[in-house]
Amino acid sequence: MPTNLSGRSYLKLLDFTSSDIRYLLDLSKNFKDMKRSGVPHKYLEGKNIVLLFEKTSTRTRCSFEVAGMDLGMGVTYLDPGSSQMGKKESIADTARVLGRMYDGIEYRGYKQSLVEELAANAGVPVWNGLTDEFHPTQMLADMLTIEEKFGYLKGINFTFMGDARNNMGNSLMVVCAMLGVNFTACAPKELFPAEDLVKTCKEIADKNACTITLSEDVKASCSDADVIYTDIWVSMGEPDEVWEKRIKILKPYQVNAKAMSYAKKEAIFMHCLPSFHDTKTVVGAKMAEKFGLGELEVSDEVFESKQSVVFDEAENRMHTIKAIMYATLK
Ligand code: CP
Ligand code: NVA
Repeated sequence: MPTNLSGRSYLKLLDFTSSDIRYLLDLSKNFKDMKRSGVPHKYLEGKNIVLLFEKTSTRTRCSFEVAGMDLGMGVTYLDPGSSQMGKKESIADTARVLGRMYDGIEYRGYKQSLVEELAANAGVPVWNGLTDEFHPTQMLADMLTIEEKFGYLKGINFTFMGDARNNMGNSLMVVCAMLGVNFTACAPKELFPAEDLVKTCKEIADKNACTITLSEDVKASCSDADVIYTDIWVSMGEPDEVWEKRIKILKPYQVNAKAMSYAKKEAIFMHCLPSFHDTKTVVGAKMAEKFGLGELEVSDEVFESKQSVVFDEAENRMHTIKAIMYATLK
């Protein structure tokens, strides 16, 4: 059956089929080719979108803005402090207002239930730009990047190191299961993904001839990996007080030269960014001063190495977000 995502919201990958995701990846490649060769693609001229951010952003915001403008759309950005939402107006009321004015709504916020509620009331497609539970637009960029580097996805060995029970660990486990990628979460047990999500992903993985593994063993998890991926150890919305414990339990899971040495020679390093790989950020410098660790989830050596594809990955956010908006608005 041909894929038709017109009018759909993009809230989490579990709402889609593997072939929907495949379709979005192929569409992303087309848009990337057009952008690179300077072919105009204002296919959505006359439409307008609004970007609602309750948490900060660089990549997601800029990707939606540039992708929206490349597609010929008008774009409004509302930052955490500049709308009535949450404080003076409920999510449902906000959705019903914005749905009258805009053709699509991007939302970055806290609970997944909030973006679901927005979508249930907006009457136009809603795109999840990150919640505490999932980060589904990031997944397309990550899979596109892996496919560009290796030429295929099925059978790739993918290892996620660190805080595996958060939006990034959860979403990567789901997308890997859906696309036939062998997924390993390497983390201390208390940061393993939730059991019910693991169960769901294992069922999906079985159908796609791939595996889901949870392990505390860095050497075993990184051995034979094609991709080693990590994310920051404390996510947006978590209190500063958790840093001390997180650093203590996640230090052995830092992606450094030793971890990379266990992986395949041609393995790549990935990170959704932003990253604390040195002390050139306010938080990075503070952690170095407080806990004596100048590099957190990834060493600067690995981040800056030839194996690191983090900026290709960041660029792909834009091409893939363009595909999502086009597919759901056309
Ligand atoms: N990876 C990502 O979502 O980055 P931003 O927080 O800058 O949007
Ligand atoms: N887990 C991170 C991802 C940032 C893109 C966060 O939620 O802050």
